[in-house]
Amino acid sequence: SWTMESFISKEISRIRELVGETAQVIGAVSGGVDSSVAAKLMHEAIGDRFHAILVDNGVLRMNEAARVKKTLCEDLGVNLQVVDASELFLSRLAGVEDPEQKRKIIGNTFINVFEEEAGRIESRVEEQGRGKIEFLLQGTLYPDVIESISFKGPSATIKTHHNVGGLLKDMKLKLIEPLRELFKDEVRALGRLLSIPSHLVGRHPFPGPGLAIRILGPVSREQVQILQKADNIYIEEIRAAGLYDQIAQAFAVLLPVKAVGVMGDKRTYEQVIALRAVQSEDFMTADWFAFPPAVLRKISSRITNEVAGVNRVTYDISSKPPGTIEWL
Ligand code: XMP
Repeated sequence: SWTMESFISKEISRIRELVGETAQVIGAVSGGVDSSVAAKLMHEAIGDRFHAILVDNGVLRMNEAARVKKTLCEDLGVNLQVVDASELFLSRLAGVEDPEQKRKIIGNTFINVFEEEAGRIESRVEEQGRGKIEFLLQGTLYPDVIESISFKGPSATIKTHHNVGGLLKDMKLKLIEPLRELFKDEVRALGRLLSIPSHLVGRHPFPGPGLAIRILGPVSREQVQILQKADNIYIEEIRAAGLYDQIAQAFAVLLPVKAVGVMGDKRTYEQVIALRAVQSEDFMTADWFAFPPAVLRKISSRITNEVAGVNRVTYDISSKPPGTIEWL
């Protein structure tokens, strides 16, 4: 009979046989469940011959790159290279408001940065006489394979990763997709068996274009920092209230409008944060989450007190449809 334990040992043997004794494998990680589980499985199979790359695109959540490095690299032993490309991404995003344009820029820049890093790893590995990079790892799940998840943009991360086509062509890489027969809940179970910490295994999904599609106006480092702070407080308080696992996805959105407020005896004129939290089975439809009022009160008071540049917090009570989960 099929068990997750037997899946792991079979998959590890299959990977070892496929990759052979000397070939090397590269793959992108995002800090999300799928890519982390795929990376850990690959590490179990071939150790340091698997090279993970995390691209910091400047629109990750607060301390995300450091957090991923700590978990994947220090705790789980995965051979990980973090590339800080935030300057490049933010310079290409400057002044751009159109959501599809933001997605396209992030998708294309991701490919550029990933390919460049892959080239660097390839030269290093060859110099050391350790064999060639022959494979590209992808954390594709069964629903991605049958494409039942439809994203708004053509350059959604999942698809973007499929599009690291230059690599597949120029470096003649072959694809490895160890999760391609699994559903999300199976990937989480697999992650737990591979000792991936529960806070990572249970994480809400995070879109490839990141905070760029949650900043409704033009993206800048300053706008990213405001949103990171608000989002971090929001998630912290959701976890503190023990509500994280009841919610499918929760995040803050930074609106490009200013509202009037008051602080002490002074009038303020600052930006507005919208909070979104939904319950959903498959992300195709969703309901807004009914927070206990005290939790919303605490979140709102912390955000307006602790985040400079924000004086007002609203809660999004739109279902999907007609609203989507993201605002862009
Ligand atoms: P919507 O907003 O369409 O979102 O209701 C449904 C799910 O898809 C995620 N999403 C994306 N994920 N790249 C991604 O990797 C994208 O461009 C993108 N747009 C939306 C969203 O976070 C939600 O989980």
